[in-house]
Amino acid sequence: MWLKSHILLLYSIASEVWMAKQLDSRRNSPRGLYTVEDGGSAESNRLKRSLYEERSCRIRGCCTGRNDDCGFNVISKAAICYCDQFCTSSSPGPVDCCGDYWDVCDHSIEPTRSNEPWPSPTSGCYKDGRYYGEGAMIKDNCNSCKCFQGLWKCSKEVCLVRQDLIQHINSGDYGWKAASYSQFKGMTVEEGFKKRLGTFPPSRSLLNMREAPGKSLPEEKFPAFFVATYAWPEWIHDPLDQRNCGASWAFSTASVAADRIAIHSEGQITDNLSVQNLISCDTSNQHGCNGGSIDGAWRYLKTHG
Ligand SMILES: *[C@@H]1O[C@H](CO)[C@@H](O)[C@H](O)[C@H]1NC(C)=O
Repeated sequence: MWLKSHILLLYSIASEVWMAKQLDSRRNSPRGLYTVEDGGSAESNRLKRSLYEERSCRIRGCCTGRNDDCGFNVISKAAICYCDQFCTSSSPGPVDCCGDYWDVCDHSIEPTRSNEPWPSPTSGCYKDGRYYGEGAMIKDNCNSCKCFQGLWKCSKEVCLVRQDLIQHINSGDYGWKAASYSQFKGMTVEEGFKKRLGTFPPSRSLLNMREAPGKSLPEEKFPAFFVATYAWPEWIHDPLDQRNCGASWAFSTASVAADRIAIHSEGQITDNLSVQNLISCDTSNQHGCNGGSIDGAWRYLKTHG
Protein backbone atom coordinates (compact mmCIF):
# COMPACT_ATOMS: atom_id res chain seq x y z
CA MET A 1 0.00 0.00 0.00
CA TRP A 2 2.79 2.36 1.02
CA LEU A 3 4.80 1.44 -2.08
CA LYS A 4 1.87 2.05 -4.39
CA SER A 5 1.13 5.51 -3.10
CA HIS A 6 4.86 6.31 -3.13
CA ILE A 7 5.17 5.39 -6.77
CA LEU A 8 2.05 7.35 -7.58
CA LEU A 9 3.48 10.39 -5.81
CA LEU A 10 6.78 10.14 -7.69
CA TYR A 11 4.91 9.80 -10.96
CA SER A 12 2.82 12.90 -10.15
CA ILE A 13 5.90 14.95 -9.34
CA ALA A 14 7.68 13.80 -12.49
CA SER A 15 4.74 14.65 -14.72
CA GLU A 16 4.35 18.03 -12.99
CA VAL A 17 7.99 18.88 -13.71
CA TRP A 18 7.72 17.74 -17.32
CA MET A 19 4.54 19.73 -17.87
CA ALA A 20 5.94 22.85 -16.23
CA LYS A 21 9.01 22.68 -18.51
CA GLN A 22 6.84 22.30 -21.59
CA LEU A 23 4.58 25.16 -20.62
CA ASP A 24 7.45 27.44 -19.69
CA SER A 25 9.13 26.99 -23.03
CA ARG A 26 5.80 27.62 -24.69
CA ARG A 27 5.01 30.71 -22.71
CA ASN A 28 8.41 32.30 -22.31
CA SER A 29 9.48 32.89 -25.91
CA PRO A 30 6.26 34.48 -27.16
CA ARG A 31 6.01 36.65 -24.07
CA GLY A 32 9.35 38.27 -24.89
CA LEU A 33 8.29 39.16 -28.43
CA TYR A 34 4.92 40.29 -27.27
CA THR A 35 6.32 42.64 -24.64
CA VAL A 36 8.96 44.20 -26.85
CA GLU A 37 6.49 44.94 -29.62
CA ASP A 38 3.94 46.18 -27.16
CA GLY A 39 6.47 48.66 -25.76
CA GLY A 40 7.66 50.40 -28.94
CA SER A 41 4.95 50.05 -31.56
CA ALA A 42 3.96 52.67 -34.13
CA GLU A 43 0.46 54.10 -34.42
CA SER A 44 -0.54 51.88 -37.34
CA ASN A 45 0.80 48.76 -35.64
CA ARG A 46 -1.16 49.40 -32.52
CA LEU A 47 -4.36 49.94 -34.46
CA LYS A 48 -3.86 46.75 -36.41
CA ARG A 49 -3.12 44.79 -33.28
CA SER A 50 -6.15 46.02 -31.42
CA LEU A 51 -8.39 45.30 -34.41
CA TYR A 52 -7.02 41.81 -34.66
CA GLU A 53 -6.83 40.89 -31.02
CA GLU A 54 -10.03 42.50 -29.98
CA ARG A 55 -12.04 39.44 -30.86
CA SER A 56 -9.67 36.73 -29.60
CA CYS A 57 -11.35 35.75 -26.33
CA ARG A 58 -14.77 36.48 -27.72
CA ILE A 59 -14.13 33.78 -30.31
CA ARG A 60 -12.08 31.42 -28.22
CA GLY A 61 -14.02 31.72 -24.96
CA CYS A 62 -12.68 32.26 -21.44
CA CYS A 63 -11.20 29.63 -19.17
CA THR A 64 -10.74 29.35 -15.42
CA GLY A 65 -7.45 28.58 -13.74
CA ARG A 66 -4.45 27.76 -15.92
CA ASN A 67 -5.33 26.27 -19.27
CA ASP A 68 -2.66 26.42 -21.93
CA ASP A 69 -5.08 25.24 -24.59
CA CYS A 70 -7.12 28.35 -23.90
CA GLY A 71 -4.98 30.53 -26.12
CA PHE A 72 -5.14 32.22 -29.45
CA ASN A 73 -2.42 32.09 -32.04
CA VAL A 74 -1.50 35.58 -33.13
CA ILE A 75 0.10 34.63 -36.44
CA SER A 76 1.29 38.08 -37.39
CA LYS A 77 3.30 38.27 -34.17
CA ALA A 78 4.30 34.62 -33.98
CA ALA A 79 2.85 34.68 -30.50
CA ILE A 80 0.09 33.13 -28.43
CA CYS A 81 -2.19 35.18 -26.26
CA TYR A 82 -4.28 33.52 -23.56
CA CYS A 83 -7.82 33.78 -22.29
CA ASP A 84 -7.33 31.84 -19.04
CA GLN A 85 -7.24 33.31 -15.55
CA PHE A 86 -3.56 32.45 -15.23
CA CYS A 87 -2.59 35.11 -17.80
CA THR A 88 -3.32 37.85 -15.25
CA SER A 89 -1.27 36.32 -12.46
CA SER A 90 2.02 35.46 -14.13
CA SER A 91 4.98 37.77 -13.51
CA PRO A 92 5.99 40.28 -14.81
CA GLY A 93 2.31 41.10 -15.25
CA PRO A 94 -0.59 40.33 -17.53
CA VAL A 95 1.47 40.45 -20.70
CA ASP A 96 0.17 37.26 -22.31
CA CYS A 97 -3.54 37.95 -21.97
CA CYS A 98 -5.36 38.54 -25.22
CA GLY A 99 -6.35 42.11 -25.97
CA ASP A 100 -10.04 41.68 -25.28
CA TYR A 101 -9.49 39.58 -22.17
CA TRP A 102 -10.39 42.42 -19.83
CA ASP A 103 -13.64 43.21 -21.58
CA VAL A 104 -14.76 39.65 -22.21
CA CYS A 105 -13.29 37.47 -19.47
CA ASP A 106 -12.53 39.54 -16.44
CA HIS A 107 -16.08 39.74 -15.17
CA SER A 108 -17.53 36.70 -16.83
CA ILE A 109 -15.82 34.19 -14.55
CA GLU A 110 -17.87 33.42 -11.51
CA PRO A 111 -16.01 33.79 -8.22
CA THR A 112 -15.16 30.53 -6.46
CA ARG A 113 -17.94 29.67 -4.11
CA SER A 114 -17.45 28.04 -0.76
CA ASN A 115 -19.80 25.19 0.04
CA GLU A 116 -19.78 26.06 3.74
CA PRO A 117 -23.08 27.47 4.93
CA TRP A 118 -21.77 30.95 5.74
CA PRO A 119 -24.72 33.26 6.18
CA SER A 120 -24.92 36.37 4.08
CA PRO A 121 -24.20 39.64 5.92
CA THR A 122 -27.89 40.52 5.81
CA SER A 123 -28.89 37.74 8.22
CA GLY A 124 -27.67 37.07 11.73
CA CYS A 125 -26.00 39.34 14.26
CA TYR A 126 -22.60 39.83 15.89
CA LYS A 127 -21.78 40.52 19.52
CA ASP A 128 -18.26 40.76 20.94
CA GLY A 129 -16.82 39.09 17.84
CA ARG A 130 -19.23 36.15 17.97
CA TYR A 131 -21.78 35.34 15.31
CA TYR A 132 -25.39 34.61 16.26
CA GLY A 133 -28.03 33.37 13.85
CA GLU A 134 -31.33 35.03 13.08
CA GLY A 135 -33.69 34.66 16.05
CA ALA A 136 -30.90 34.02 18.59
CA MET A 137 -31.50 35.27 22.14
CA ILE A 138 -28.72 36.61 24.35
CA LYS A 139 -28.51 38.49 27.64
CA ASP A 140 -26.70 41.84 27.65
CA ASN A 141 -26.27 42.72 31.34
CA CYS A 142 -29.88 42.97 32.58
CA ASN A 143 -31.47 43.20 29.15
CA SER A 144 -32.44 40.37 26.85
CA CYS A 145 -31.74 40.79 23.16
CA LYS A 146 -33.05 38.99 20.12
CA CYS A 147 -31.43 38.97 16.70
CA PHE A 148 -34.10 40.20 14.32
CA GLN A 149 -33.36 40.85 10.63
CA GLY A 150 -29.65 41.36 11.27
CA LEU A 151 -30.11 43.70 14.23
CA TRP A 152 -30.25 43.19 17.98
CA LYS A 153 -33.59 44.11 19.50
CA CYS A 154 -33.11 44.59 23.24
CA SER A 155 -35.35 45.33 26.18
CA LYS A 156 -34.62 48.74 27.70
CA GLU A 157 -34.38 48.07 31.44
CA VAL A 158 -32.11 50.14 33.68
CA CYS A 159 -29.45 47.81 35.05
CA LEU A 160 -28.20 47.61 38.62
CA VAL A 161 -24.54 47.53 37.56
CA ARG A 162 -23.83 50.30 35.09
CA GLN A 163 -20.29 50.72 33.83
CA ASP A 164 -20.92 54.35 32.83
CA LEU A 165 -22.15 55.19 36.33
CA ILE A 166 -19.15 53.48 37.95
CA GLN A 167 -16.80 55.44 35.69
CA HIS A 168 -18.64 58.67 36.42
CA ILE A 169 -18.36 58.17 40.19
CA ASN A 170 -14.70 57.15 40.04
CA SER A 171 -13.74 60.14 37.89
CA GLY A 172 -15.23 62.52 40.46
CA ASP A 173 -14.13 63.37 43.99
CA TYR A 174 -16.89 61.82 46.07
CA GLY A 175 -14.72 60.41 48.86
CA TRP A 176 -15.45 56.83 47.83
CA LYS A 177 -14.89 54.59 44.85
CA ALA A 178 -17.41 52.44 43.02
CA ALA A 179 -16.67 48.89 41.90
CA SER A 180 -18.52 46.29 39.87
CA TYR A 181 -19.94 43.47 41.99
CA SER A 182 -20.47 40.38 39.90
CA GLN A 183 -23.36 39.17 42.06
CA PHE A 184 -25.38 42.21 41.00
CA LYS A 185 -24.62 41.80 37.31
CA GLY A 186 -27.58 40.97 35.09
CA MET A 187 -30.13 42.46 37.52
CA THR A 188 -32.39 45.37 36.76
CA VAL A 189 -32.68 48.25 39.22
CA GLU A 190 -36.23 47.06 39.91
CA GLU A 191 -35.01 43.55 40.77
CA GLY A 192 -32.34 45.13 42.97
CA PHE A 193 -35.01 47.00 44.95
CA LYS A 194 -37.07 43.83 45.33
CA LYS A 195 -34.35 41.32 46.15
CA ARG A 196 -31.44 43.23 47.66
CA LEU A 197 -33.31 45.55 50.00
CA GLY A 198 -36.51 44.60 51.77
CA THR A 199 -37.24 47.05 54.57
CA PHE A 200 -40.54 48.89 54.27
CA PRO A 201 -40.54 52.58 55.21
CA PRO A 202 -41.72 53.21 58.81
CA SER A 203 -45.43 53.88 59.22
CA ARG A 204 -46.75 57.39 59.81
CA SER A 205 -47.59 56.64 63.45
CA LEU A 206 -44.04 55.39 63.99
CA LEU A 207 -42.51 58.54 62.50
CA ASN A 208 -44.72 60.65 64.76
CA MET A 209 -43.29 59.04 67.90
CA ARG A 210 -41.28 61.25 70.24
CA GLU A 211 -38.30 60.21 72.37
CA ALA A 212 -38.98 59.58 76.06
CA PRO A 213 -38.08 62.83 77.90
CA GLY A 214 -35.15 63.07 80.33
CA LYS A 215 -33.78 59.61 79.66
CA SER A 216 -30.92 60.10 77.15
CA LEU A 217 -27.69 62.10 77.55
CA PRO A 218 -27.48 65.61 76.11
CA GLU A 219 -25.86 65.71 72.65
CA GLU A 220 -22.59 67.30 73.81
CA LYS A 221 -21.93 64.30 76.05
CA PHE A 222 -21.78 61.89 73.10
CA PRO A 223 -18.24 61.05 71.93
CA ALA A 224 -17.15 62.67 68.66
CA PHE A 225 -15.87 59.31 67.35
CA PHE A 226 -17.42 55.94 68.11
CA VAL A 227 -17.23 52.55 66.43
CA ALA A 228 -19.04 49.62 68.06
CA THR A 229 -16.51 47.03 66.84
CA TYR A 230 -13.71 49.05 68.50
CA ALA A 231 -15.66 49.42 71.76
CA TRP A 232 -16.78 45.75 71.91
CA PRO A 233 -14.55 43.78 69.54
CA GLU A 234 -15.88 40.33 70.47
CA TRP A 235 -19.53 41.17 70.83
CA ILE A 236 -20.50 42.72 67.52
CA HIS A 237 -21.84 40.28 64.93
CA ASP A 238 -20.76 40.23 61.31
CA PRO A 239 -23.11 41.45 58.63
CA LEU A 240 -24.69 38.54 56.72
CA ASP A 241 -25.22 38.16 52.99
CA GLN A 242 -28.94 38.13 52.29
CA ARG A 243 -28.38 37.15 48.62
CA ASN A 244 -31.51 37.60 46.53
CA CYS A 245 -33.80 37.56 49.55
CA GLY A 246 -35.39 40.95 50.20
CA ALA A 247 -35.44 40.51 53.96
CA SER A 248 -32.99 43.13 55.20
CA TRP A 249 -35.61 43.85 57.91
CA ALA A 250 -34.87 40.38 59.42
CA PHE A 251 -31.09 40.25 58.76
CA SER A 252 -30.44 43.64 60.37
CA THR A 253 -32.77 43.13 63.34
CA ALA A 254 -31.43 39.68 64.23
CA SER A 255 -27.84 40.95 64.07
CA VAL A 256 -28.46 44.14 66.06
CA ALA A 257 -30.48 42.23 68.69
CA ALA A 258 -27.64 39.71 69.11
CA ASP A 259 -25.15 42.60 69.52
CA ARG A 260 -27.28 44.19 72.21
CA ILE A 261 -27.73 40.95 74.10
CA ALA A 262 -23.93 40.45 74.07
CA ILE A 263 -23.27 44.04 75.23
CA HIS A 264 -25.97 43.92 77.89
CA SER A 265 -24.78 40.57 79.23
CA GLU A 266 -21.18 41.87 79.05
CA GLY A 267 -20.17 38.99 76.84
CA GLN A 268 -21.98 36.24 78.74
CA ILE A 269 -24.36 35.63 75.78
CA THR A 270 -22.81 36.16 72.35
CA ASP A 271 -24.93 33.68 70.38
CA ASN A 272 -26.17 34.41 66.89
CA LEU A 273 -29.90 34.97 66.57
CA SER A 274 -31.70 33.16 63.80
CA VAL A 275 -32.63 35.28 60.79
CA GLN A 276 -34.54 32.36 59.38
CA ASN A 277 -36.72 32.26 62.52
CA LEU A 278 -37.82 35.85 61.85
CA ILE A 279 -38.37 35.28 58.12
CA SER A 280 -40.36 32.09 58.62
CA CYS A 281 -42.25 32.81 61.84
CA ASP A 282 -42.81 36.57 62.02
CA THR A 283 -45.53 36.52 59.41
CA SER A 284 -48.10 39.02 60.66
CA ASN A 285 -47.82 41.95 58.21
CA GLN A 286 -44.34 40.71 57.26
CA HIS A 287 -43.58 39.21 53.88
CA GLY A 288 -40.39 37.20 54.33
CA CYS A 289 -38.05 37.66 51.36
CA ASN A 290 -40.51 40.11 49.80
CA GLY A 291 -40.03 42.71 52.52
CA GLY A 292 -41.04 43.61 56.06
CA SER A 293 -40.75 46.34 58.68
CA ILE A 294 -38.16 46.82 61.44
CA ASP A 295 -40.65 47.74 64.16
CA GLY A 296 -42.63 44.57 63.42
CA ALA A 297 -39.44 42.51 63.82
CA TRP A 298 -38.66 44.12 67.20
CA ARG A 299 -42.23 43.58 68.34
CA TYR A 300 -41.89 39.88 67.45
CA LEU A 301 -38.59 39.57 69.37
CA LYS A 302 -40.14 41.31 72.37
CA THR A 303 -43.14 38.98 72.51
CA HIS A 304 -41.63 35.69 71.24
CA GLY A 305 -37.93 35.97 72.09
C1 LIG B 1 -22.33 33.14 64.16
O1 LIG B 1 -22.34 33.49 62.77
C2 LIG B 1 -21.05 33.68 62.21
C3 LIG B 1 -21.26 34.11 60.78
O2 LIG B 1 -21.61 35.43 60.75
C4 LIG B 1 -20.24 32.41 62.30
O3 LIG B 1 -18.96 32.62 61.78
C5 LIG B 1 -20.16 31.97 63.75
O4 LIG B 1 -19.49 30.74 63.83
C6 LIG B 1 -21.55 31.84 64.37
N1 LIG B 1 -21.41 31.56 65.80
C7 LIG B 1 -21.99 30.53 66.37
C8 LIG B 1 -21.75 30.40 67.83
O5 LIG B 1 -22.69 29.74 65.77
